[in-house]
Formats: sequence, C-alpha cells, structure tokens
Amino acid sequence: MRLNIVVLPGDGVGPEVTEQAVRVLREIATTHGLSFHFTEYPVGGEAIRRDGAPLPEATIDACLKADAVLLGAIGAPEFDHLPSSEKPEAGLLKLRSALGGFANLRPVKSYSPLTHSSPLRDEVVRGADILFVRELLGGLYFGEPRGITSNNGSSSAFNTMRYSVNEVERVARIAFESAARRRRKVTSIDKANVLETSQLWRQTVTRIGMEYPKIELDHLYVDAAAMHIITNPRRFDVILTENLFGDILSDEAAVISGSLGMLASATVGGSVDVYEPVHGSAPDIAGRGMANPLGAIASAALMLRHSAKLEDEAGDIEAAIDSVLNAGHRTRDIARDVDAPAISTSEMGDMVCDAVAEVADMRHAYHSV
Ligand code: IPM
Ligand code: MN
Repeated sequence: MRLNIVVLPGDGVGPEVTEQAVRVLREIATTHGLSFHFTEYPVGGEAIRRDGAPLPEATIDACLKADAVLLGAIGAPEFDHLPSSEKPEAGLLKLRSALGGFANLRPVKSYSPLTHSSPLRDEVVRGADILFVRELLGGLYFGEPRGITSNNGSSSAFNTMRYSVNEVERVARIAFESAARRRRKVTSIDKANVLETSQLWRQTVTRIGMEYPKIELDHLYVDAAAMHIITNPRRFDVILTENLFGDILSDEAAVISGSLGMLASATVGGSVDVYEPVHGSAPDIAGRGMANPLGAIASAALMLRHSAKLEDEAGDIEAAIDSVLNAGHRTRDIARDVDAPAISTSEMGDMVCDAVAEVADMRHAYHSV
C-alpha cells in the first residue's frame, strides 16, 4: 500500500514537531514494509512570508489530492496587526472549510508515568480517558455577519453564533459512533440556559441520541463542565461540543495529560482528514529544540488508524510513546525537578523511533512462536 501524505509544517514549533512525526512514520514504513510518500507545502505565517497569503492555491490543491494531511501549527505574532481575514489563522480556517472536516477528535488521557507532571492530584487524573468531539466548521468561527463598524469615532465589533440542525446532527453522530467503540457515554456541553444555538443543539443531540439506545447521554452547561473536567475527569467518556467551547475545554483538559504538548487531534468527516497536535505554534520556544513532539507523533498514529486503517501500526506508535515515557524520557514541558534532565525535540524523536523498531521486533517474535 502507498499513502500520499501532505505535510504542512506551518509556524513556530510546527516544523520541529512534524519533522519528528515524519521520522516516526518513515520508521513504521520500514519496519512494516509500507510505502509512505511525503510532500511539504507552506501554510499560515510561513505562506504569508513566501507567497503573501496564508493558504496558497498549490497548498490547498495538494491537500485535496492527498490521502491525509499532517499539520504542525499555525500562528505568528509578527502578523498580529493584520485584519482577521489576512492573519495566518485565516489560512487554517480556510483549509478546514475547503477540506470539509466538521468533527475534530481530541483524545485526552492520563499517561500513568506522567500523573505527577499534572498540576492535578494523581488520584484525580489517574485512569482518565476522554475523547473530545469538537464541531469544527460552525459557530462563532464561521458565523455571518461578522465585523467591526465605526460610528462617529466609536467602534463596535460583532460575531454571530449560528448552527443549523444538520450541522449538529452530523457531528452528534460522530460522537455517538465513537462512544459505541469506547465506554458508551456521551456528554453534550452547551449553554442552553442562555443561548438559542445551544437550545437547538441540545434538542438535536437528544433526538439523535434516541437512535443510539445503548449509549448513555447527558448534558452539562459549559461553565459547570469546565469545573467537572478538572475535578472529576473520569466521569467523562466522549464529550461533544460546539466549536469555541471545544477549543477552550480541550486546552483546559490538557492538564490531565500533564502538558498540551501531549495532545493529538484528527479532523474527520470531510474529503481529506487532517491530523495535527493540539498545541499551537508556541513562538516563545520555537527554534530552540524544546518542543514536545509527542502530540504530533500521536497525531501520526491517529492518521494511520483513521485514514489508512493501519491499526497495528498505529498501535505500535502508541506503544512506543508509552515505552519512552515509562523509560523516563521527558521533554521540558513534562519534566519535573526530580526527573533526569529534559531531552530535546529531536532526541525525543530518536527515542520514539528506536522504540517503534523494538515494538515491531517484539511483534515479529510473538508471531513467530
Ligand atoms: C486550535 C487552534 C485554532 C482554533 C486557532 C489557531 C485558529 O487554537 O486548533 O485549537 O482556534 O481552532
Ligand atoms: Mn485551540
């Protein structure tokens, strides 16, 4: 089998972490006799610098023809002064709508060797395992009208939160289907005590839920949910929520894993699926070899599982990540004072590649007895 992967390194730490994810994928290709083909294109601030626009035609064309897209991160402070529609982030939003993926899956789990890296107590996070299903193409990010107006020298700005029944239905189905493969519980998060969009959301999710009688469904208001996520994360299996709430709550939930650098994501439901770590471009540490590549590497695992149906290979990458963490290797974001000195982005990549090779050897040994 041959997999055509478009790599969009993007801004800040994006290039450093995607480089390690690509190395791990190459290692998997070697150990499992597969053929992965990579091509790189600019996006975000990098594309503005090269081509004057955050999403060049060539980039979007290549993505549309790919089997999967691996993205680094987007966002560069030097473009903060530009209007929203010209910022690097506009490239990401355009890419999302052009590819059509409406469900952003963000698994958040507690890794047992890292429970002490979380600011939350060990007994709170241990065993937590949540899948966020974030709606990605609606709500305030895309709602019209939007803008800034000026009247007699006084400005006001406005955005629109808008959802159609169809937009809620399709993402709700992804959440229920994901829950069916997990612990069979969906918690839908909204603000139905205040917002009409949330009232429509809740009604629609409840109706779709009736099609899935084996899945338990409950609803929480977003403010309460923000508290439950960090006080009792084990109460959740699948969390279904709209675009902005999902953006905020998934960053919050990262404290369960110990670091935002650990989190992976998959954007599905469109013509081509996109895999990217949840952390942003982190301009403060970019270019210094300090970033944690495990979120990007775990995103590569999700890519093999969802876009290539390579379950064993995805599992090997995940087992390699566990084994590297069990062996005590830490990038700076997950290292504590008592740990060995932190290793660099590329050293972490080396460790995972070695572990992938070992995991594959063990698999061969197991199959040949
Ligand atoms: C994310 C990011 C993006 C978002 C930004 C960079 C536009 O924060 O993927 O979570 O808000 O969706
Ligand atoms: Mn975000």
